[in-house]
Amino acid sequence: MNNNKLGFATTGIHAGEAKDEYGALVPPIYQTSTFYFDSTYDAARACDDFAKSFAYSRITNPTVDCFEKKLAALEHGKGAVAYASGMGAITGILFMVLSSGDHALFCKAKYSGTEDITTDFFPRFGIQSDTFNPTDLDALEAAIRPNTKLIYLETPANPTMVMTDIEEVVKIAKRHGVMVGVDNTFASPYNTNPLDYGADFVIQSVTKYIGGHGDILGGAVISNNEEILRSCRLGTLMHFGAVMAPFTAFLAIRGIKSLAVRMKQHNENALKIAEYLESSDKIESVRYPFLKSNPQYELAKKQMKGGGGMITFDVAGGLEAGQKFMNNLKLCKIAVSLGDTETLVEQAAAMTHTMIPKEKREAAGITDGMIRMSVGLEDADDLINDIKQALGDK
Ligand SMILES: Cc1ncc(COP(=O)(O)O)c(C=O)c1O
Repeated sequence: MNNNKLGFATTGIHAGEAKDEYGALVPPIYQTSTFYFDSTYDAARACDDFAKSFAYSRITNPTVDCFEKKLAALEHGKGAVAYASGMGAITGILFMVLSSGDHALFCKAKYSGTEDITTDFFPRFGIQSDTFNPTDLDALEAAIRPNTKLIYLETPANPTMVMTDIEEVVKIAKRHGVMVGVDNTFASPYNTNPLDYGADFVIQSVTKYIGGHGDILGGAVISNNEEILRSCRLGTLMHFGAVMAPFTAFLAIRGIKSLAVRMKQHNENALKIAEYLESSDKIESVRYPFLKSNPQYELAKKQMKGGGGMITFDVAGGLEAGQKFMNNLKLCKIAVSLGDTETLVEQAAAMTHTMIPKEKREAAGITDGMIRMSVGLEDADDLINDIKQALGDK
């Protein structure tokens, strides 16, 4: 069977699985730190290339390997390297591809942890960075310097939902011999495949849609470039040690098996809720990729299969009106994180992005009152009723 021709759901369910000696339907949890050998010859052969054999679970483990193969297949990559969290993957790849004296360009709005790495850690290691506006790609090209090594973007970005045209960025980057990395967490591989546009690597916070149930922390770097994958595995994974645990990989595999149906429902629920929010006069602005009012609607249609499960909006009346709305919600939970079965709301300026100074937040388009909603898998009508009563809509 040609696995390239299989659909997303089939790939998620079957990719990366090998029959074990008992014929277990579900890939077993190999809860072992080490692996033994029958001879010194076998041991030396395995340890000669840690990346290619099971010798120590800080580098490779059969359960984690199965998860990596599944995720790589869904992201259309040759392979993946799993880490202990999304931040493990982000620092794992950034500190692998960037060295002292290098320069990197990051999209303006992004996950605050990534922002903190660029502002708090890069200077200590002699790495320079600037931000770019995803809606002004001429300025992005002009910002490329002789020592620019990487353009890194999130699309849609956390929390603003501003999108970047991956195809256009890759064209610019190729002209200058610069790498492109994409944090594909918000879109998920169901909605967007950045590697198809020529991105050099993708990162996922597996904690979110891939895991899907709010019960794990995980991350991964996915790429078509074997050199990147090998250097991550034998570099930051092996030596920084932010390794994915076998039990986490088991839950992430289970998450992947239902990713297609979950993403379909996240897409459908979020569009309905975004349309409702837009129709309410208690809401000042809404940003959702597949809303026709989205200034980047055409790009969203080109780059995403569905609009995803994330919405941002501002309640009329600003910060206090937004807080009142959030406190009035009954079904939707006030919590950071996203991609779970439960609908979660958070106020970026006071919760996820509070460590970023106000001027920087504002420059990135993050208003104080901005509410980010991760639409879950409940019945859309129940969520709309909850939002209605919290807003005081009739
Ligand atoms: C877009 C994005 N990337 C990366 C991360 C970091 O992932 P983790 O919490 O798994 O370290 C997050 C966390 O919220 C995120 O929203």
